[in-house]
Amino acid sequence: MAFKATPAIIGFGAREGILMLVDTLLHRPSRPQRVLQYLQDRIDPGNPTATLEAMDAFARQKRFLMNVGDVKGKILTQALARSGAGNVLELGTYCGYSAILMALHLKGSGHVDSLEMNPGNAEAARAIIEFAGLSEKITVHTGAAGDIIPSLGRQYDLVFIDHWKNQYLPDLLLIESSEAIKPGSYVVADNIGMFDATGYLDHVRDSGRYDNTNHQAHMEYNDTIFDAVEVSILRH
Ligand SMILES: C[S@@+](CC[C@H](N)C(=O)[O-])C[C@H]1O[C@@H](n2cnc3c(N)ncnc32)[C@H](O)[C@@H]1O
Repeated sequence: MAFKATPAIIGFGAREGILMLVDTLLHRPSRPQRVLQYLQDRIDPGNPTATLEAMDAFARQKRFLMNVGDVKGKILTQALARSGAGNVLELGTYCGYSAILMALHLKGSGHVDSLEMNPGNAEAARAIIEFAGLSEKITVHTGAAGDIIPSLGRQYDLVFIDHWKNQYLPDLLLIESSEAIKPGSYVVADNIGMFDATGYLDHVRDSGRYDNTNHQAHMEYNDTIFDAVEVSILRH
């Protein structure tokens, strides 16, 4: 999947490129590490809602974070509630924002398995999740989703796909063949509006295996870049 080259996306990408260059030249810590420090400086530990609000504030006031965010997050938690809010598989942890959001809405013994291939992101996310007080509800697995999915050995009520966009389709096919989802499971895919998601959408919409709803939105923390979330339910 490639970015759709709209003027708003090109402008955003150019600004982000400059900020990343500045941060690299000044040897600043990674954004997930900076978020952890920001949380520790401002809020008390053990408060997941305050943790999410502070991460939103960081993303709006300091540096952009590729979290699902507060607005698209409502689409995600609505799907989670409808799925029964049991076990969740997430592809792409980053800072742990969506994992914390979903863990807050789980029922009973529901658990989030979140897969993250960048070891630095995984380490920061674990520290942020511990700070939020949700370590018992979330396991962050370090490694590429394609390597981890076959060994999970669990079935999930909801899968949140939010890692690198060219992996959406191959990793969903792997999830299907590994039987990590069952009839009635929800598959929620972020960013299918700002990226060209043709192959992924062709599969969920044309394979006859899913019932689909497209939720239009904007990119997280942004009012001008169009985005969308596809919610797909595996048919019985
Ligand atoms: C958009 S961010 C995830 C945001 C997170 N879901 C949230 O909303 O808070 C994407 C993350 O996926 C990770 N990633 C990319 N490709 C991956 C792969 N094949 N397996 C596991 N993680 C991957 C990246 O390192 C990055 O941290």
